[in-house]
Amino acid sequence: MGVGVKSLLVFGASSPTGQHIVEEALNNGWEVTIYGRRTLQKHSENSQITTLEGTLQDESNIRHAIRNATVIVSVIGPSGTTIKNTPFPGFYRRMFDIMREEGVRRIIALSTFSVPHPNDRFNFTCHMLVSMLRLFGHSAWRNLIDVAATFDQHGSDLDWTLFRVGFLKDGGPGQVIQGYVGDGKLGMGVNRVDVAKWVVQQASMKDAENLGDKPGISSA
Ligand SMILES: NC(=O)c1ccc[n+]([C@@H]2O[C@H](COP(=O)([O-])OP(=O)(O)OC[C@H]3O[C@@H](n4cnc5c(N)ncnc54)[C@H](OP(=O)(O)O)[C@@H]3O)[C@@H](O)[C@H]2O)c1
Repeated sequence: MGVGVKSLLVFGASSPTGQHIVEEALNNGWEVTIYGRRTLQKHSENSQITTLEGTLQDESNIRHAIRNATVIVSVIGPSGTTIKNTPFPGFYRRMFDIMREEGVRRIIALSTFSVPHPNDRFNFTCHMLVSMLRLFGHSAWRNLIDVAATFDQHGSDLDWTLFRVGFLKDGGPGQVIQGYVGDGKLGMGVNRVDVAKWVVQQASMKDAENLGDKPGISSA
């Protein structure tokens, strides 16, 4: 890799949100590497993308992926509301160790409003959505809480941002709003294309913002 080249490593590139992130990053001059258990044909056929396959448990493959990354983005997570033996908290914990060993500091990862923030205020719609998930999708809710605890407890010396969303939509592009639940501005829904725009903007900042924080984002 040449001096000054920005290399983005994306986990979850096969997801609809991840696909937008890959596209946005390429459009903004990033070199893109993707790591996942499967590779979409459009990604393997794109010579601008380095594709790596492996599981979330495969330390040597993950290390290989992380080695030359400038920024890591992760939007992996359960596709539904049931998840058995969640691999995600352990994955992030292993990733943090590898990041330290390989000298990679910055990671931007997706979370949801199920994870509270001290600046959040009561919002009825959000309260109902989170309560429903906690009740009817307890394993997915638990996974979100455990992932956030992993960042808090094991990532404190790294430059992480856990951005929170409500539900993902396929509309847009629109204006991205960053804030906290119940602040009168932040909505519950965000367009996947807007997530991609926000994430790549955050990754591109010379002086990174939202370090060690969990801001919410939505689409206007
Ligand atoms: N849909 C919503 O409204 C909503 C709301 C809040 C949060 N989220 C979260 O937002 C993210 C993106 O959602 P989306 O709707 O765009 O796509 P999605 O289909 O939910 O994407 C899930 C991604 O995680 C990967 N993944 C899941 N389990 C994995 C495992 N055990 N090992 C390796 N990779 C695994 C999937 O890879 P494969 O393609 O290989 O399965 C895929 O790339 C997800 O993490 C989702 O949980 C979604």
